[in-house]
Amino acid sequence: MYSKKVMQYFLHPKNVGEIKNASGVGEVGNIICGDVMRLYIKVKDDVIKDIKFKTLGCAAAIATSSIITEIAKNKKIEDALKISKEEIIKSLGGLPPIKVHCSLLAIDALKEAIYDYLKKSKRKIPEDLKKNHERIEKEKKIIKKRYEKINLKIKN
Ligand code: FES
Repeated sequence: MYSKKVMQYFLHPKNVGEIKNASGVGEVGNIICGDVMRLYIKVKDDVIKDIKFKTLGCAAAIATSSIITEIAKNKKIEDALKISKEEIIKSLGGLPPIKVHCSLLAIDALKEAIYDYLKKSKRKIPEDLKKNHERIEKEKKIIKKRYEKINLKIKN
């Protein structure tokens, strides 16, 4: 059962959409369910001035995407990287245990957007952010393969 807050954010998500000329874009897929999320950030003086998302996923994925945009907005990059799944879950008044992985999708999307921003601006990328990026890339390949298989099955 979802909390009232999850339902509020699912039915009335904040910061949905795209940012043109974003400083960084993060795209992630969830290996468990195949849901995808894209998150855009506009950064000025290392502060996230604007942030938007597009999520194709469950109620929890949409609620966690929405709340992470609110938590991360106006945060310095280094502080945004410290946002934890516990913080997101607490802000939403809890998540059913089976939906906890959905909160990780939002965190990964934000990390990927920051990775993209640092890469584009030729800045040093922290080692753990690099490792996170490599894991996400691997997972995206697995998801792509799975969907290709599904597409083949449909065609046959
Ligand atoms: S079930 Fe896929 S992100 Fe929630």
